[in-house]
Amino acid sequence: MKITKSTNTKINDVNFNSIKFGEIFTDHMFECNFSNGSWEDPIIRPYSSLVLDPSTHVFHYGQSIFEGMKAYKDNNNDLWLFRPKDNYERLKKSSERMHIPVFPEEYFFNGLNELIKLEKDWISNKPGSSLYIRPFVFSSSPMLAASPSIDYKFLIICSPGAAYYSKPLSVYIEDEYSRAAPGGAGYAKAAGNYGSAFYPTSLAISKGFDQIVWTDSNSHQKIEEVGTMSIAFRIGDKIVTPMTSDTILDSVTRKSVIQVAKDLGIAVEERDIFISELISEFKSGNLKEIFGCGTAAVIAPISSFGYKKERFELNKLEESYADQIKNSIVNIQQNLSKDLNSWKYKIKQ
Ligand code: COI
Repeated sequence: MKITKSTNTKINDVNFNSIKFGEIFTDHMFECNFSNGSWEDPIIRPYSSLVLDPSTHVFHYGQSIFEGMKAYKDNNNDLWLFRPKDNYERLKKSSERMHIPVFPEEYFFNGLNELIKLEKDWISNKPGSSLYIRPFVFSSSPMLAASPSIDYKFLIICSPGAAYYSKPLSVYIEDEYSRAAPGGAGYAKAAGNYGSAFYPTSLAISKGFDQIVWTDSNSHQKIEEVGTMSIAFRIGDKIVTPMTSDTILDSVTRKSVIQVAKDLGIAVEERDIFISELISEFKSGNLKEIFGCGTAAVIAPISSFGYKKERFELNKLEESYADQIKNSIVNIQQNLSKDLNSWKYKIKQ
């Protein structure tokens, strides 16, 4: 792979104590083009703007998918990824659904390895620190025909870590808009799934909430996700989370939460959860916690939820499952505790 190093670094201009999620980018990016029916040789080059024709396919038809991952540095300055194979497998599924040619596995892993090695100074080994990694693919042919693009671009960019949410969330259970429908692309990490969520989310924000709880598109009675994350509930001493389906993203953090909870001796149920059950468990005092989980936030505690005109406030717990599970996951990610499930992937330096 051809690597062109940047002649200067932006790192000294960054105040790492005040960065916000996804606003600062590192010095290099990985790039690979698909043309004439195959992926060309990938390169790493200094981070820079792209020049694209106004007719570029993605602007008009949104044939685009992405992944979210993080890299970590431990106390020996070793660098780690967390379950990258799961991200690659999901990228393949998203590609198929969006009719995008699958990016070769070897290019994906070599690209990540070389890019993270180059950007190692951007990762701190302070507890909770990471480098957010955004692989993405978009349709790049200059064409307005509403048919699949002929050319594609795969890029990986990196952004130094910052907390995604700074406080517990208040969420509104959506009963009109839908994020995904059966047979749709809800299980894919397709750019449009996120773009179409912004308007309903803005309506929830105007009602005084932070995020939406997505429900099924047919009855709006069954819980699916929250904001851009998977959702989980602690009912009594059990964790309950919806099963994945064609309307729910198969989140790597969700899978990790389920396994870590089991490793901690907490019972987990993957099953349908209806709004009526939540409200009745809340009223009988059994609904103890709600949290979102995703790569960016890891675990985002939810302190209250609204449904139609009612608002329900959860009591604050001292020893929450959300905190215990988050600490366990973060400790594995930063190589501070035993990796029972062999999730860590070492970057070769
Ligand atoms: C994640 O946390 O996994 C996400 O996809 C969040 C991202 C959209 C900012």
